Amino acid sequence: MGAIFQSLGRTVLAGVVLLIVLVLVAGGGSIGGMAWSTFAMRWLHVLNGVMWIGLLWYFNFVQIPSMPKIPDEQKPAISKVIAPAALFWFRWAALGTVITGLLLSWMSGYIAPALGLQRPFLAIGIGMWLALIMAFNVWFIIWPNQQKALGMVQVEAADKAKAARTAMLTSRLNTMLSIPMLYCMVAQQNGGL
Ligand code: HEM
Repeated sequence: MGAIFQSLGRTVLAGVVLLIVLVLVAGGGSIGGMAWSTFAMRWLHVLNGVMWIGLLWYFNFVQIPSMPKIPDEQKPAISKVIAPAALFWFRWAALGTVITGLLLSWMSGYIAPALGLQRPFLAIGIGMWLALIMAFNVWFIIWPNQQKALGMVQVEAADKAKAARTAMLTSRLNTMLSIPMLYCMVAQQNGGL
C-alpha cells in the first residue's frame, strides 16, 4: 500500500484500476455504444470540473484569506511554489471542463438549443454560459494577472499590485458565479429550473 500512496501517479492509476474492477464486477455489461460513451464523457466532465472548482475554492476559501496571516519571509513558499502549481492544474482543468462539457452537450444532441437558451435546455444552457464566462476569466484575466502578481512576468511594483487585485476580484467573481453555475449543471436532469 505504502508503495502506491507514496506516489501520486501510482495513486491515480490505482483509482483507475479500482474503477475498472468495479465496472467489470458490478457493471451490467452495458459498456460501449453511444449511450455509454456519453456517460463516460459526463464522468470525465465532472472529474475535470471538480479539479477546477476545487482549486477555485481552495484559492478563495484557503489561500487568499491565509496570506495576511503568513509572515513576509514565508510568503514566497506560497507565491513561488504552491500558487504556480495550483494555477497550472486550475487553468488546464478549466479548459478540460469546457472541452468535455461542450462534447457532452454535442453528444447529447442539444448543444445549439442549449447555447441558444431554448427550453427544455434552459437550465444547462444558463449553466454552460456561466461556466464559459468563468473559463474566459480564468484564461484571459486571472492567469495573465497572476503571472504578473507572482513575478512570473516582470512588471513595475504598482502594476504588480494592480494585477494582484484584478486577479483576486475576478477569482471572487468566479466563486460567486460557481454557485448558480453548479445549480444549473445538476438542474438539467433533475428539474431544478
Ligand atoms: C463551459 C463549461 C461547461 C460546460 C459546457 C458544461 C456542460 C455540461 C453538460 C452538457 C452537462 C449535462 C447536463 C445534463 O444533460 O444533465 C453537464 C453536467 C454537469 N456538469 Fe457541466 N459544464 C461546464 C462546466 C462545469 C463545471 C465547472 C462543473 C463543476 C464541477 C460542472 C459540473 C457538472 C455536473 C456535476 C454535472 C451533472 C452531471 C449529471 O447530472 O450527471 N460543469 N455539464
